[in-house]
Amino acid sequence: MADWAVEADGLGRVFEVKKRPDVVALSDVSLRVAAGEVHGLLGPDGAGKTTLVKVLSTVLLPTSGTARVMGHDIVAETAAVRPLIGVVIGGDRGLYGRLTARQNLAYWAALYRMAQAEGRRRGEALLARVGVDGRTDDRVQSFSRGMRQRLHLARGLINDPQVLFLDEPSTGMDPVAAREFREVVRELAGEGRTVFLTTHDMAEAEAVCDRVTLIDRGQVLATESPGALSRLLSRHERIECVGAAASVLEDLGALACVERVTVPVESARIELRRSGGGRGDAPAGRRRRHVGEGDPTEPRGGLPRDGRRPRHGI
Ligand SMILES: Nc1ncnc2c1ncn2[C@@H]1O[C@H](COP(=O)(O)OP(=O)(O)OP(=O)(O)O)[C@@H](O)[C@H]1O
Ligand SMILES: [Mg+2]
Repeated sequence: MADWAVEADGLGRVFEVKKRPDVVALSDVSLRVAAGEVHGLLGPDGAGKTTLVKVLSTVLLPTSGTARVMGHDIVAETAAVRPLIGVVIGGDRGLYGRLTARQNLAYWAALYRMAQAEGRRRGEALLARVGVDGRTDDRVQSFSRGMRQRLHLARGLINDPQVLFLDEPSTGMDPVAAREFREVVRELAGEGRTVFLTTHDMAEAEAVCDRVTLIDRGQVLATESPGALSRLLSRHERIECVGAAASVLEDLGALACVERVTVPVESARIELRRSGGGRGDAPAGRRRRHVGEGDPTEPRGGLPRDGRRPRHGI
């Protein structure tokens, strides 16, 4: 058996966009996920979470670097990887609104070339497991977002995968459903499956993950246990600084209260040392400040790069 369920080394993904600069969605991403681990990928909007899930699950090709799932290279051995994994990207894709929940699962079981009786048996069991059993014969177009997410999860499990990739799986679920979902994830790990899930929500990561990788602007910032990560986040106040001269950044970097200054593509980032006051306890993402040349009244601090509003604190 492979030592690691997922291994990524220097993964990169650049999107070419017509008449626009290339988008670097992933840059030099390296991580390891042990078999049976629930691993969270935590980051703000546009951090590269979905892109990483797509690359690792062979939906998208990387533009640099390598990765292996259960010991198989995701590019050279795609056919070996696919039967071992389940992928839940969510949204409207992958479910057929005019089919019932049961028919959707039967369809996916057939795609995996499962015998009809076996597909039906697994489908029923999974619908009960994710809590859709009361609605098996309803058309999926009548399902709420949360119910669809549950059905997506059942679909991702139809081929009995060893590694399950879940992209924001609890989006749209009410708090009770989200708690039940977390229990299902822990159960899946208890069965020896590896779960790799993305989330915006530190609380979800703390509740369900063994380890969490923090990602921002396509780069891995840290991989830690949820407890250690939450302590790490609370240690820093982060200031985004747009348009500052290199000499100014150098001077700032020399200040005693500044932990470090990093310069990603379009802005500099200044992380302050913890002052020891109460302010140090809130998660860094909630206190992110911007310093720039634009209109000071513009609420830039909380907006992610693509202009959409952040959904949670990070
Ligand atoms: N097909 C594409 N073409 C061009 N750019 C893309 C494409 N897909 C993603 N991107 C860009 O890559 C970056 C990472 O996107 P990604 O969807 O992976 O982020 P995310 O962390 O999943 O964000 P969210 O939390 O909003 O789902 C973003 O800047 C996004 O706009
Ligand atoms: Mg995403």
